[in-house]
Amino acid sequence: MKKKIAITKGDGVGQEVVPEGVKILRIINDYTELELEFIEAPAGGAIWKESGDSLPKKSFEIIKNSDAMLFGAIGIPGLPQGVAESAIMRIRRGLDLYVNLRPIKLFDAVRDRCPLKEEFIGKGIDITFVRENTEGLYSNIGFKRKNEAQSVMQYTRKGCERIIKFAFDFAKRNEHKKVTSVDKANVLRASQFWREIFNNIAKEYPDLETEDVYIDAFCQWLIRAPFSYETVVTGNMFGDIISDEGAFLIGSMGMASSGNIHPGKVSMYEPIHGSAPDIAGKSIANPIGTILSVKLMMQESFSNSEIAREVESAVEDALLEGRTVDIENPSLKTCSTQEMGDLISKKLVDRLKK
Ligand code: IPM
Ligand code: MG
Repeated sequence: MKKKIAITKGDGVGQEVVPEGVKILRIINDYTELELEFIEAPAGGAIWKESGDSLPKKSFEIIKNSDAMLFGAIGIPGLPQGVAESAIMRIRRGLDLYVNLRPIKLFDAVRDRCPLKEEFIGKGIDITFVRENTEGLYSNIGFKRKNEAQSVMQYTRKGCERIIKFAFDFAKRNEHKKVTSVDKANVLRASQFWREIFNNIAKEYPDLETEDVYIDAFCQWLIRAPFSYETVVTGNMFGDIISDEGAFLIGSMGMASSGNIHPGKVSMYEPIHGSAPDIAGKSIANPIGTILSVKLMMQESFSNSEIAREVESAVEDALLEGRTVDIENPSLKTCSTQEMGDLISKKLVDRLKK
C-alpha cells in the first residue's frame, strides 16, 4: 500500500530545502519497496496573509489523513508574534505529537566545522535529545494583561510518563548505555514532579545507567563534554533551547533534523532551523537538516532502519565532495541548495542500486 506523505514547504528557506527532501523521498520510492505519494498541505505566514489562517482546515485534514509529513519552516518578517508559529503548535498538539526527537551527530567529514576544540570533542558527538512536545511551558495556559502576564509550566503524570518511557525505550533500541534527564528541580515544582517520575521509570530499566542534570549545568556540560551524552530526555522549553545549542555543535543549524512523533500515528518531520529570511531565495540554505529528517521518517514512522542508514551514509559520502556555504571547505566544491541535494541524491542512488 502506498504511503501518503503530506508536504509543507512553508516560508523562507522552507521553499528551497523541502524540494531537496522530496528528491530523496522520490529516490526511495523508485529504488526500494516502499511506495510513496505526495500531497501538498500549505501552512505558514504566506498562507496566513492570503487566508487569515496559518494552518487552513484543508491542510490540517490532509496532514491528519497522511502517513507522515515533511515540513520546512514557517515565519516571515513583519507578522504579529506567534501567528505563523501557531501552525506548528496546532500540528503538534492537534496530532498529539508528544515526542520531539532531535539527534545531534557530528559527522567525521565536518569535524573541522565543530566550534569546539579537539579536546572537548573527544570521541565525538552523537546525542539524541528527546524533547517533550505537548506540555510544559508550551501548554498554552496563561494570559497577557496590561500589567501582568503568565505562562504556566504544566506537566501531567501521563505526559511525563509517556515521554520518559519513550526515551528509555529509544535508548534500549539504540544500544545506548545511559539516559540523562535535564530539569530545574532545585527551583521548579514541575521539574520535581518530572524528576520523581524519571527516577521511578528508571527502575524498570535496570540495565541503563541514569543521571539527573540541572538545565543550567547541562548547557555548560554540553560544550565541555558532549561525548558523555547519548539519550537526553527533557521538557519542552529546555529541549527547545538545548537543541539549538546542540545543532551548532555539529557544524551548522542547517544540519539538524527532528521528528515530531506519536508512535504508530501520523508524525511530522522537519529541520530544526527556521525560515531564515536573511538568506531565503538565494539557494544557499543547507538541505541536510531536511534530508536527515527524511532519514528519521524512515526510521521512526516506517520502521525501516536500513533505508534510514543508507540516507545518512549518502549524506556522509556527499560531505566529502561538496558543501553548502554554511559548512564550506576551501578544498571542496561549494554547492547551492539544489546541487547539494543532487549530490546526496546521486550518492543515495549509488547505494540503493547495489
Ligand atoms: C523549534 C522552534 C519552534 C519551537 C517554534 C518555531 C515554535 O523553535 O521547533 O524548536 O519553539 O518549538
Ligand atoms: Mg527551537
